[in-house]
Amino acid sequence: MQKQQAPGHHAARIPRHVAIVMDGNGRWAKRRFMPRIFGHKHGVDALVRTVQACADRGIEYLTVFAFSSENWRRPSDEVSGLMNLVLVAVSKYLGKLQKEGVRIHIVGDRAAVSERVRSAWQQVETATAHNRRITLSVAFNYGGRWDVVQACRRALALGLSPEELDERRLGQLMAMSHAPDPDLFIRTGGELRISNFLLWQVAYSELVFSNCLWPEFGEAELDAALQEYAGRERRYGGVPDGQSQALSA
Ligand code: IPE
Ligand code: IPE
Ligand code: MG
Repeated sequence: MQKQQAPGHHAARIPRHVAIVMDGNGRWAKRRFMPRIFGHKHGVDALVRTVQACADRGIEYLTVFAFSSENWRRPSDEVSGLMNLVLVAVSKYLGKLQKEGVRIHIVGDRAAVSERVRSAWQQVETATAHNRRITLSVAFNYGGRWDVVQACRRALALGLSPEELDERRLGQLMAMSHAPDPDLFIRTGGELRISNFLLWQVAYSELVFSNCLWPEFGEAELDAALQEYAGRERRYGGVPDGQSQALSA
């Protein structure tokens, strides 16, 4: 888990870790009288653009919600289209991402996805493991509640005693243990909810919601969110800037 700043500090201008709920693909396609999967295809292009833009701005970690534990409820042709899109996207973009120094982690329950998708994930992680410019975590068949439960199960399997299990130890067993907690959480598509994304890790993230539909997301929308973030004061439960000293004096 992230070592948190002392209370009362202004947010650093550039967040270390940005998390994004990439929402609005279906509506974007519908407006064009196209099937939903057309929106998802353009969503992959928006993701690749965004990875590049984040790396250019010095963001160290980008985590995106690509498929939730609940997205299995969608019509079977959309679900199979999304699974197929994973394979298409990997063959189209893996070389480019690898050249650009992107390290890729997949977070989520892999047991329920097909062998083909699982091996594509394995290929992506192996091919990019040595990269260091930016870490992209793709949440796929991921849910925040799934993550809490799988971390607790691992703790039990390790035989930890109740006294040994604290926030730090549980955080180490969670799927995002390779990254600090997100500083900035962005959701596109206009909905004002978390939808079971990083529940544990967003405890003190700054939330930014945008009406932009995900396939339209690009540098301008990223910069708008970064600007909003830079104006926030992060207090972590403390008191506003300057006053913490006044209190202890
Ligand atoms: C987000 O876009 C992508 C996934 C959930 C896979 P949606 O498909 O949810 O798009 P809308 O919200 O229906 O417009
Ligand atoms: C969240 O979007 C999941 C992803 C972006 C992958 P949804 O479209 O599934 O969320 P709800 O159903 O509007 O809450
Ligand atoms: Mg949606």
